[in-house]
Amino acid sequence: MTTTLRLGVNIDHVATIRNARGGTDPDPVRAARLAAAAGADGITAHLREDRRHISDRDIDRLSAEIPLPLNLEMAATAEMTAIALRHRPHAACIVPERREERTTEGGLDAVAQRAHLTPLVGQLSDAGVRVSLFVEPDARQLDAAKALGAPVVELHTGAYCDAVGERRARELARLVAAARHAAAIGLECHAGHGLTYDTVGPVAAIPTIAELNIGHFLVGEAIFVGLEASIHRMRALMSEARLAAL
Ligand code: PXP
Repeated sequence: MTTTLRLGVNIDHVATIRNARGGTDPDPVRAARLAAAAGADGITAHLREDRRHISDRDIDRLSAEIPLPLNLEMAATAEMTAIALRHRPHAACIVPERREERTTEGGLDAVAQRAHLTPLVGQLSDAGVRVSLFVEPDARQLDAAKALGAPVVELHTGAYCDAVGERRARELARLVAAARHAAAIGLECHAGHGLTYDTVGPVAAIPTIAELNIGHFLVGEAIFVGLEASIHRMRALMSEARLAAL
């Protein structure tokens, strides 16, 4: 049982808006500072191979200027590993990446990629980076993550968020079972992808989840209410749900 539930604010889509015009505004580092002031526990940024949102310079600046732990989302490639080893962020979340996808569509296949991932997790861990694997809520994936030495898993909540009615209840049950299994085998459990004010409560109520990483909805909502207000509301919903579940 984890009473504190951390919120990692993903600022990728501040960079998406900036890159739409190719200039310097809006600045994702300013968003990260604002998120820190609004009570975020960490900043998450995904440096994609195609640099479609976050840039190398953003990672340099986030590492140097932000008072919060940085969670670097990265593909399991030699290029990204070298960047992570240079910056040594607090955490690195290994995600699958396909150039043609609009967003990270599914979890990593830690079972099939065990041989490739094991040395990478080892290198990052030896450098003091806390490694998590972004996986589907599936016990086989969690067992594989554990076997290859990752201390943390992040459960992909996309299928749960996309589903409606009965199907959403089934997807939530998968998340609940996976989070329970993660705790049973000694993995710290995070979750994220696609979470909104409407979908966050039931995930925040899962007692063994320690951290949620949320970005797109918070940045979108910030257009209407400001980033600080969108983060405050998300935090309040997370806390309410967690407290009600205790
Ligand atoms: N967690 C991981 C591992 C992700 O790849 C993403 C998307 O970049 C998120 C959380 C946040 O998802 P969203 O932007 O949909 O809130």
